[in-house]
Amino acid sequence: MKKVITYGTYDLLHEGHINLLLKAKALGDYLIVGVTNDNFDRERGKLNVRNNVLERVEAVRALNIADQIILEDYVGQKIDDIQKYGVDIFTVGSDWTGHFDYLNEYCEVVYLPRTEGISSTMLREESQEIVRIGVVGLGRIGKRFFSEASFVSGLEITSIYDNDKNVLDGFAQEHPSYDVSQTFDEFLEKVDAVYIATPHLSHYEYAKNAILAGKHVLCETPFVLNGQQAEELYALAKEKKVVLMEANKTAHCPAFNHLMVMIKSGLIGEVVDIEASLSKLLADKNLREFDPEQAGGSMYELGSYPLLPILKLLGTEYKSLTFYSRMDKGVDIYTKGVLCYPNAVCSFKLGLGVKTEGNLVISGTKGYAYVPAPWWKTDYFELRYEDQNENKKFFYKWDGAGLRYEIQEFVSCIYNHRLNSVRFRSSESIAMAAIMQQFTERKNFMEI
Ligand code: CTP
Repeated sequence: MKKVITYGTYDLLHEGHINLLLKAKALGDYLIVGVTNDNFDRERGKLNVRNNVLERVEAVRALNIADQIILEDYVGQKIDDIQKYGVDIFTVGSDWTGHFDYLNEYCEVVYLPRTEGISSTMLREESQEIVRIGVVGLGRIGKRFFSEASFVSGLEITSIYDNDKNVLDGFAQEHPSYDVSQTFDEFLEKVDAVYIATPHLSHYEYAKNAILAGKHVLCETPFVLNGQQAEELYALAKEKKVVLMEANKTAHCPAFNHLMVMIKSGLIGEVVDIEASLSKLLADKNLREFDPEQAGGSMYELGSYPLLPILKLLGTEYKSLTFYSRMDKGVDIYTKGVLCYPNAVCSFKLGLGVKTEGNLVISGTKGYAYVPAPWWKTDYFELRYEDQNENKKFFYKWDGAGLRYEIQEFVSCIYNHRLNSVRFRSSESIAMAAIMQQFTERKNFMEI
């Protein structure tokens, strides 16, 4: 029996795919089709795939051409598969000619003629209305959004706004292609969605006005510093049927996501302790980060990162939370927080004026996860056990400034009418805002 294998994403299954699979099948007696897993596509920078892996596998299966369907998870898997399944012929479309010649060492390689004039990329572009995004706040954070958004399909940054006229005009002069509005209301009229990258204390007003105007909102972290305000805005977004997402880039990064899924699947047993730390020493003490009037300080600035694994893994029903802070000129240059759950305890350390070892350790009854600094933009982690032979290292890709992953999720939520992303639920974002509020109110707070 002659075995043939071929691979692809098979997004928005089309005639080109069907022709290719029929030709591949005709090369032998048994056809194995490898469909790329979502994580694998994301890792290799394919951020725009429309159908998820289950839908894509189902579409290939429904054709009744493949004798076997497998998932492609990692680079190098093709060599493993060829040997594992005793494959005689590896085949792909002629757009890949030459690319897989290295497989000749393991089996025959055949490049089949590609069907002209159709591709998933084309279909994605044709079928999708482009989301017009406006950027509010053109400071240090907002500026990164422009290059990162260019890696995600289905959106276009059309408009810009900043309440500082000098900043707005300066940016507009450098980038004349964007529409410039003089008022926020005028700006809202021209967009479908808004990315808010203004100072923390202005998030509430901007987000509320945008939602009321029926616009989707991606708001920089920390979203708001008050639990009721967060609840109100998420409820309003639900009512208006718009996506509201807090832009926490760690929540959407491939490595962190996979870590969460693995721990939730029990790979280190029951989680009993989480320690997360993050520090960023800034030399310029005149920055917004040190200004109490603009909600400066370590907790507001950095707190949403370590709170993320804690709330995701242990939930929002903690029993107590105590803060220990070193204050300087009205802001916390260091804060340690201790959260107690009925069956777990967690701590986080944050420093704008104190340097900490910035790693993440999640301890469980069977083993622990170790994510080295800077864990919040990780591309690597380890699961470690008593028996060191069981230890495993995991490597991923972290591209650019990392914003592209959250932008992709935001756009995907808009297209799929998903108002809540499991990667960072509104309940988790609300709990974070309530924690920020507790800090503001100095409840269970001790100065050190
Ligand atoms: N293919 C083909 N003819 C086309 C499109 C794809 O023969 N018009 C083949 C590819 O060469 C590959 C397989 O179908 O062997 C799966 O390709 P995939 O990358 O999933 O499809 P594309 O339409 O090329 O996707 P994209 O536009 O996202 O690259």
